[in-house]
Amino acid sequence: MKRVSVFAPATVANVACGFDVLGFSLNEPGDEVILSLSDDSGIEITKITGDDGRLPLDVQKNTGGVALLHMCEHLKFSGGLKMEVHKKMPMGSGLGSSAATAVGAVVALNELLNHPIERKDLLPFVLEAERAACGAAHADNAAACLLGGFILVRSNEPLDVIQIPFPDDLFAAVIHPHIEIRTEDTRRILRKQVSLTRAVQQWGNLGGFVAGLHQSDYDLISRSLEDVIIEPVRGLLIPGFESVKNAALDAGALGSSISGSGPSIFALCRGEEAAQKVGKSMQN
Ligand code: HSE
Repeated sequence: MKRVSVFAPATVANVACGFDVLGFSLNEPGDEVILSLSDDSGIEITKITGDDGRLPLDVQKNTGGVALLHMCEHLKFSGGLKMEVHKKMPMGSGLGSSAATAVGAVVALNELLNHPIERKDLLPFVLEAERAACGAAHADNAAACLLGGFILVRSNEPLDVIQIPFPDDLFAAVIHPHIEIRTEDTRRILRKQVSLTRAVQQWGNLGGFVAGLHQSDYDLISRSLEDVIIEPVRGLLIPGFESVKNAALDAGALGSSISGSGPSIFALCRGEEAAQKVGKSMQN
């Protein structure tokens, strides 16, 4: 029986200045999704580990299942599939857990069927899963997980995702406070209107950050890692956020902010050694 195993990495979305439009993938942790063709009809989730029994085995409710259903419908594929999911990252942590399972599932099916769809064109199926999981089809985690490296979602409608080159020596430290935050809830509390002054600051930073990545300009990256719109609101939900962020900056990070909708907190650093040092300070 043909069987494929896929690693789907954790991701950091927003990256301070790019709410819903910037994201990058991490080397680790990541989910493992195993998919096999089966003689039985339909899609079956046979096993989920690492979730303390919290994720649904019901295909209609599981992000991997939802993404597969949409992809099968698009391909008019009616064969049987069996899926195993091994969660190796915390859920509700701001590390793109829901997107990772969905990405793992569609990449595995594409592999099993000998690549009928180009990698980037798998994204809409993952977005359907994101919509089911948190009520909004934001592509920042999903695109970073699917394509790797840094991505910019230039537009959601129509979908236009750009991969951004980044300097070799850029490393991230990420810490995960042991609380859970539901993306759906933290989206609901955000103000729907933004002042022009704040908007100008934010898009100046976003442009600066993307230019900094392109030019390997660490000072520009550092100056641009500022979020004047979302972080002041969401930071209040994470106990100790300001002190963790200050610890990162004091230890030499280029910048630090909330990973996705939190509670994880990331810091970007120049060099692996610097990232290790920053990570320890944040943890302390
Ligand atoms: N951009 C999304 C948000 C990411 O901040 O709500 C969720 O991880």
